[in-house]
Amino acid sequence: MLKLNTMEEKLNKIKTDYFLNINQAKTLKELDELFLALFGKNGVITLLPKEFGKLPMEELQKIGPLFNQTKHELDNAIENRRQAVREESYAKLTTEKYDLGTAEIKPRHGHLHPTTQFIQETVDLFEKLGFQQFDAPQIDTDEYNFGLLNIPEGHPARDLWDTLYIDPQKTGYSPGELLLRTHTSNAQVRIMRDFTPPIRMMSIGRCYRYENLDARHEHTFEQFELVYIDKGVSMTNLQYLSEYFLQNTVGKDIKVRLRPKYYPFVEPGVGIDGLCIFCHGQGCKVCGGTGWLEVAGAGMIHPTVLKNGGINPEIYSGIAWGPGVGRIMMLKYGFDDIRELLKGDLKFLEKF
Ligand code: DAH
Repeated sequence: MLKLNTMEEKLNKIKTDYFLNINQAKTLKELDELFLALFGKNGVITLLPKEFGKLPMEELQKIGPLFNQTKHELDNAIENRRQAVREESYAKLTTEKYDLGTAEIKPRHGHLHPTTQFIQETVDLFEKLGFQQFDAPQIDTDEYNFGLLNIPEGHPARDLWDTLYIDPQKTGYSPGELLLRTHTSNAQVRIMRDFTPPIRMMSIGRCYRYENLDARHEHTFEQFELVYIDKGVSMTNLQYLSEYFLQNTVGKDIKVRLRPKYYPFVEPGVGIDGLCIFCHGQGCKVCGGTGWLEVAGAGMIHPTVLKNGGINPEIYSGIAWGPGVGRIMMLKYGFDDIRELLKGDLKFLEKF
């Protein structure tokens, strides 16, 4: 038969052990654990009454109140300690000072997209020469994208651009009237109409083409339009600006050539090529076997276009220039497929 004093001793031991632990607890989590150890499903206080059945009746009557009292005291002790822990942590919050000088600053892994970085560098370069930024719409009219640039409807030169037209049913425009701009040259006549010479403007942004995709061609790409109009502007300025741009972006030893090329909005017109860095002029898949990578179209602005912009071609002359951002980036960074830029492949992007 179990003795009353044995049960009393057991109860007292639980009480002293747990009181000590409760008062030493530093966190609410520790207190929750102690509460469970006492009052949880398998807690010592929960299980103890199971042993009472072994006590004789009159002893059971004595242990009952003692047990209830201990239970109550332990429960109170936990609640009081919880309150104390909360107050201590509030006090700490108001007195503790966070020293930013010693705080660890983790290096950031993210960065701007390489195209954005490149555009920013290029903008800085031309701002130094007094060029200002100008924005033109990506959804534009046929008139600004072609008509005013001396490419009237039905002109065979339209085939130079594989154009994405916008569904007339959804816009209220006539068929063929609204399109995704095929080049940033759609900024040209707007610039001329908004400003009077001397004009030094740059317009950068997305262009779209219904393109046959390959290592050099992407349906969505960035172009960089430069317009410089003043008295006495000539091809010499164009040559200088081409070298300035390519040497400062790609590198001092870039080999550049200007070759005659037809664009309806310039006369004379040129294609600007950089020597293909992948085959060093031998001809390869990237440069289409030519040994050179075309990075821009350019030329002296056609008198008709100047007139369309309200500028007298008898007094002023101008150059316009349309480098493809992705093409120049290929030469600068040495990647051999323009489509990498829009893939979103982190392994590729991480290299910049
Ligand atoms: N817009 C032309 C294209 O995308 C490139 C170009 C050619 C731009 C001649 C110009 C220029 O400003 O004068 O193919």
